[in-house]
Amino acid sequence: MKFTLIKTDTNSKARIGEIYTSHGVIRTPIFMPVGTQGTVKAITQRVLDNEINAEIILSNTYHLYLRPGTEILEKAGGLHKFMNWNKPILTDSGGFQIYSLSELRKIKKDGVQFKSHLDGSMHYFTPQKVIEIQRSIGSDIMMPLDECTPYPCDFDYAKKSKELTSQWAVLNKKAFEDTKSLYGHDQYLFGIIQGSVYKELRESSAKDLVKLDFDGYSIGGLAVGEPTEEMYDIVDFTTDFIPENKPRYLMGVGRPENILEAIARGVDMFDCVMPTRNARNAYLFTSLGIVSMRNSAYKDDFSPLDPNCDCYTCKNFTKSYLRHLFNSKEILALELATIHNLTFYLNLVRESRKRIEDGTFTEWKNKFIKIISINLQ
Ligand code: GUN
Ligand code: ZN
Repeated sequence: MKFTLIKTDTNSKARIGEIYTSHGVIRTPIFMPVGTQGTVKAITQRVLDNEINAEIILSNTYHLYLRPGTEILEKAGGLHKFMNWNKPILTDSGGFQIYSLSELRKIKKDGVQFKSHLDGSMHYFTPQKVIEIQRSIGSDIMMPLDECTPYPCDFDYAKKSKELTSQWAVLNKKAFEDTKSLYGHDQYLFGIIQGSVYKELRESSAKDLVKLDFDGYSIGGLAVGEPTEEMYDIVDFTTDFIPENKPRYLMGVGRPENILEAIARGVDMFDCVMPTRNARNAYLFTSLGIVSMRNSAYKDDFSPLDPNCDCYTCKNFTKSYLRHLFNSKEILALELATIHNLTFYLNLVRESRKRIEDGTFTEWKNKFIKIISINLQ
């Protein structure tokens, strides 16, 4: 995979770069909206592409395998065609979703047995199997099967788990090399670094994976309940073991301030359900702070949600109207709120790129975090 590192910041580890895929270029740092089921909830692909200008989305092997299943995906010609999204797609391997969604999961030496959260049926994922499914999906960037440790996690368990993830990484890589894309476009495979909050494990996990030469490296097993400062510390430590010329992806993170702090520590890619899920709960991120759109304070507030936002929602509607939509449980509330929150997240990484470019990133980040973390009404 071609990744071009364009610039590294002078007073932080922040970088700007470009990832080249068959479905287009991704400029980093980037945020990937989550489209678990082959849809970013509440908005159309047209809005996602033309209005929000998303450059890549994330989908999920676990969900797509259970429903609609690989047979339908292959008949459709892959997920890009099935959902009519022609830009890059990254898929998570299902490792994490098995741990968070399915009951009755059993981790064995060569894979994970689990019970579907949909109908209770039993399934078995191995490193080979998740590559095969992601070939059927046709995602541009695939993730290997890994084990995401919970927090807290004692050292001995974290060590065993990290070793299992490293052994699986070898099998994931081999399955990747032994198979090819079904639809004629390139697919790439990242490695996932684990090791909980233990630096010695993070270091050896990173070294195990770097030896296998993946197309990029994910940092997993974070944002699972550990203190934020500890997460920052582990991210800062871990990025030093990832080759400079490979993209780095912090999985499942996070709040706007977490993303900015991780960019400062050398991370290039992010995904999180926060902007979309929070939008559907009337919890909105703005350049002036966080707003709960159900609050009666907005009953007769005819100003835009965010005066500094250029999204469709902010350009065309008032807080009063948005509050009314949420209050009346109208489905338009979900769409307008999602458009805004995703625009906020995409603007966050776009502004970061600009600030890294002109050398004002750290200064801007520190000021901006103070403002956007304020809880307004
Ligand atoms: N999403 C958030 N964290 C993780 C992780 O540790 N592993 C995987 N596969 N996905 C994740
Ligand atoms: Zn907006």
